[in-house]
Amino acid sequence: MSANEPRREGDAEQKLSGFGLGAQDVAAWRESGLPDSALDEWLTDRVARRPSGLRARKVYGADDVHDFARRAILQALALRRGDHLLELGCGGGLLLRDALASGAWATGIDHSEEMVRLARERAPGAEVQLACAEQLPFADASFSAVAMSVVFFFFERPELVLRECRRVLRADGRIAVYTTAPELRGTPAAPEPLARFGHFYTDAQLARLARGAGLRDVAVDNRRGGQLLTGRR
Ligand SMILES: C[S@@+](CC[C@H](N)C(=O)[O-])C[C@H]1O[C@@H](n2cnc3c(N)ncnc32)[C@H](O)[C@@H]1O
Repeated sequence: MSANEPRREGDAEQKLSGFGLGAQDVAAWRESGLPDSALDEWLTDRVARRPSGLRARKVYGADDVHDFARRAILQALALRRGDHLLELGCGGGLLLRDALASGAWATGIDHSEEMVRLARERAPGAEVQLACAEQLPFADASFSAVAMSVVFFFFERPELVLRECRRVLRADGRIAVYTTAPELRGTPAAPEPLARFGHFYTDAQLARLARGAGLRDVAVDNRRGGQLLTGRR
């Protein structure tokens, strides 16, 4: 089918149901009034880039959501009492919840209103704000650690985000970012059409971005396409 040809009745429903979306999501798509050509981008937002709807609440509030990334990040940061973690793109707040359990203070930001609400429910005790990763609403040197789980992929200006992270980190503060390597493009870890709206980096490119943002002790641990970037201010 060419890009200009109208979709058949039911095409949108089929595509949405392939991502576990149901009647409420189909109705939301219809109500959006967007042209058919915008469906892939709308779907990307709905399920991952700015999650919303019942399914998003269920997925991002579930205990096992991205637990592989959460474990890797928490292990790398080794949070203790006295630490203050900032998480960018906190989704349903499970990493914030686990950070609090380690005795640290935890703050999260997300640009999805629904995820901010969910994170406040799932991680009571954390401070969660509606904000964009490119412009963090915090003073310089506010945090001892920064985390990003399965969100870096979506940033249009990754170096700007990393510079913001560096700015809000205290001297010697640490950062851990979990993202998806190019070799996983098109797999369930980064399926199309979502992959088309994201950005993949080789390990070397990721490290270069972090160093370019002024971070030091930069390392990338790539385990079967799951990349853990770590560094320090
Ligand atoms: C795929 S979800 C991951 C959520 C959570 N970190 C996890 O691992 O389950 C990506 C999250 O990042 C948020 N996000 C994406 N781009 C963002 C941006 N520029 N600023 C703030 N939040 C953003 C989305 O709203 C969404 O909640």
